[in-house]
Amino acid sequence: MSSLSKKRLVLFASGSGSNVENIVRYFEGHEHITIAAVLTNKSDAKVLTRCKKLKVSGLYFNNHAFLEEGCLLDVLKGIAPDLIVLAGFLLKIPEYFISNFPDKVINIHPALLPKYGGKGMYGSNVHRAVKNNGEKETGITIHYVNENYDEGTIIHQSKTPLEPHDSVEDIAQKVHELEFEHFPKVIEQLLS
Ligand code: GAR
Repeated sequence: MSSLSKKRLVLFASGSGSNVENIVRYFEGHEHITIAAVLTNKSDAKVLTRCKKLKVSGLYFNNHAFLEEGCLLDVLKGIAPDLIVLAGFLLKIPEYFISNFPDKVINIHPALLPKYGGKGMYGSNVHRAVKNNGEKETGITIHYVNENYDEGTIIHQSKTPLEPHDSVEDIAQKVHELEFEHFPKVIEQLLS
């Protein structure tokens, strides 16, 4: 299959981008799916270094370009993505964005929604809250994105048990393991 007829994936990330790297590696040489671009709202995000290493297009946009309907939308329409994946992307998605790509924007959240979702709940903040509440398990949620933080229809959840002695870092590692295992496969299923 030529790369022109493959399904086109766009990834958004704000930080380290270990999920982006895992997804890019998973789809390297894939018959039906290609990574069209990785976009970030942080000019110094580690994900851009990963993009260089992985030889995929990494593009930075400023918050203004994201919040106002305009040039970012033009860029995305030019890319014509089949799926937009938020992989550690921390800004709230504006309404214009969702209405232009209905059912095409998904997010991964590092907890079992509806628990530990909402504004301010990202990365280690989530894992700290999970630990402080003495949860016996945590996990990941992959869901469609709507205009409210972490409230769209759930596509997939996976769980991992927690031990009382697990640190915040241990919890983060367990969650990352689940993300690495399941996120690319869920994306692949959605695009097949
Ligand atoms: C991931 O654990 C992802 O679930 C989380 O940020 C981390 C990014 O890690 N996303 C959120 O908290 C969104 N609310 P990464 O940059 O190494 O992929």
